[in-house]
Amino acid sequence: MRKILSVLLVSLLIFSFASCGSEKNISQGSGEENTEISNILIVYFSRWGNTDYPDDVDATTSASIVPDGDGRYGTTEYIANMIADEVGGDLHLIETVMPYTADFDELRDVNHGEMERNYLPGLKESNLDIAGYEVVFVGYPVWATDVPQAVLSFLNEYDLSGKTVIPFCTHDGYGAGHSYQTVADASRAAVSLDGIAIEAKDVPGAQDTVSDWLADIGISGSQEQDVARNKSIFSADDFHVRI
Ligand SMILES: Cc1cc2nc3c(=O)[nH]c(=O)nc-3n(C[C@H](O)[C@H](O)[C@H](O)COP(=O)(O)O)c2cc1C
Repeated sequence: MRKILSVLLVSLLIFSFASCGSEKNISQGSGEENTEISNILIVYFSRWGNTDYPDDVDATTSASIVPDGDGRYGTTEYIANMIADEVGGDLHLIETVMPYTADFDELRDVNHGEMERNYLPGLKESNLDIAGYEVVFVGYPVWATDVPQAVLSFLNEYDLSGKTVIPFCTHDGYGAGHSYQTVADASRAAVSLDGIAIEAKDVPGAQDTVSDWLADIGISGSQEQDVARNKSIFSADDFHVRI
């Protein structure tokens, strides 16, 4: 009975989602031209951009820095950029007011402490206007088999209810852990997909994996596919549905 109810709820949400007149690539797939207005947000947290690294930090020995050409990127940031390259959308780095330590062991302890206290670190002021987005990718490095607390700060501060939330994460071999469920719960999204988890060592070569995943969930580089239309490829159990 619960399963039937879930399927009905998913159908209802998909229908209302598809019929609410989206601005771009999540409109019902009718072959209409898409407008240039982006309604996809790719928000992410990475150590890079949130850490007091010394100026001479050696990117080649740091698991959390991906060197590419003249640039350096966070591991999760690198995937965020791949998603943006494929589907467009706006990028937003979650930045804490207080940077985190560069020392891994210290950071592990800090994170455990924050998790135990359910502490939500303060975020830097930003002029992000979340209201205009229908699809929000949420990216993060897996910390202690879950999301970093800064991601919870973001989900607490910004209202994602009624939106489609798609998590993506990087990790060092242990996968996404509890993080998808945490994102679904904390975001209060209308629909929250189980996302993609990419091991840090695979990140530089992950473009095809990311492309295939985006195609699977119905958001392609052509921006003509449609999340709602392609949701039928998932079973109700693939979604965390909120009412
Ligand atoms: C405090 C902390 C906790 C971590 N916990 C996990 C974990 O539970 N499982 C895992 O596979 N990797 C874990 N990692 C590794 C990171 O998820 C991985 O290196 C990630 O790709 C870093 O992404 P970033 O460069 O965007 O910060 C942890 C890293 C840190 C710093």
